[in-house]
Amino acid sequence: MGTDIIDPWGATGIKDYQQTMEQFGIEPLADVIDQIPQPHRLMRRSIILGHRDFGRIAKAIRNDSDFALLTGLMPSGKFHFGHKLVADQIVYYQQQGAEVYVCVADVEVHNTRQVSIEEARDIAIDQYLTNYIALGLKPENCHFYFQSEGPRDYQVLSKLLADKITLNEMEAIYGDLEPGKIISILTQIADILYPQMKSEGGPRPTITPVGFDQDPHARLTRDVVSRVQSNYGFIKPSFTFHKFMRGLKGGKMSSSDPQSYIALTDSVQEALDKIDQAKTGGRDTAEEQREKGAVIEEDTVFEMLAYHLIEDDQELKEIQERYTAGDMLSGELKQICKDKMRKFLARHQQQRAEVEDRVDEFLN
Ligand code: TRP
Repeated sequence: MGTDIIDPWGATGIKDYQQTMEQFGIEPLADVIDQIPQPHRLMRRSIILGHRDFGRIAKAIRNDSDFALLTGLMPSGKFHFGHKLVADQIVYYQQQGAEVYVCVADVEVHNTRQVSIEEARDIAIDQYLTNYIALGLKPENCHFYFQSEGPRDYQVLSKLLADKITLNEMEAIYGDLEPGKIISILTQIADILYPQMKSEGGPRPTITPVGFDQDPHARLTRDVVSRVQSNYGFIKPSFTFHKFMRGLKGGKMSSSDPQSYIALTDSVQEALDKIDQAKTGGRDTAEEQREKGAVIEEDTVFEMLAYHLIEDDQELKEIQERYTAGDMLSGELKQICKDKMRKFLARHQQQRAEVEDRVDEFLN
């Protein structure tokens, strides 16, 4: 597979984010975050690293004008800290005034990962929605829908888009295709455009936060918008792209390998054990560590702190400095992470228990 293809269903992931951004014309988010009043932690730390047309969204936030967030989830396996990246962004944009659309990609997960529609529904509610609510998602101004049963105009759009795209064009973007993937692509484009349909109030800026692997869909959607311009008048949707959290053992975080992630429903003890086993950027001996300092880029424990467990930039910076200077050993870093993880999970799981019976408010 050539370097000009990103496979959203592939197992490899993105090797070099900078190169990917340059190659596909994704802009650095750091250049525009000054345009919004309260950039999110993930933005300030360049974990959300790239964007397309974020300026439109920044403007809507500043002017308090109408905009929508739409993003989708693939309901398979447990909800872990990698998935929490998207959840945090959904809650953030809702707080910034967005009307929120969350799409459950049950058709996609059925067609590409052999999960049944019923199973996908249960996972979406028990794992994703319940955790989203515990993390702060509110039912007001929030639409939660399933690809298999979304509104009629959206279903129709997903099918009629077929004559706006050729197979050659799709294969140039995605590589080899099969029917299940083609349906997923058309459906996802309709998902992204749905908040701008007439039934939803018509054209307006939208933001879709995703991982870099979803950029092929972003590019194709933005291209297709100009082809249906005379019928729908859609505004080109905006996107941000976040880096992926690595697995706790290094390598990919994967739903099929429970040791590679911490789920938000893991017990505190399970989570602490996983942190104990996690790959750090510490040196082989304490002596060497004091002399050379840690290789922070390789440290999955520091990553957990930076992505999720420390909100205060100054606090994070001090830890980073001590750790890379050799004034802190990996054991101490792990202890910090374990203390924060214990508190986070205890609080989160209590919130989860409290909101469990509120899922119905989101399901009409
Ligand atoms: N394909 C996405 C994933 O693999 C899920 C998804 C479906 C999605 N529809 C979407 C993401 C619309 C963003 C916008 O996770």
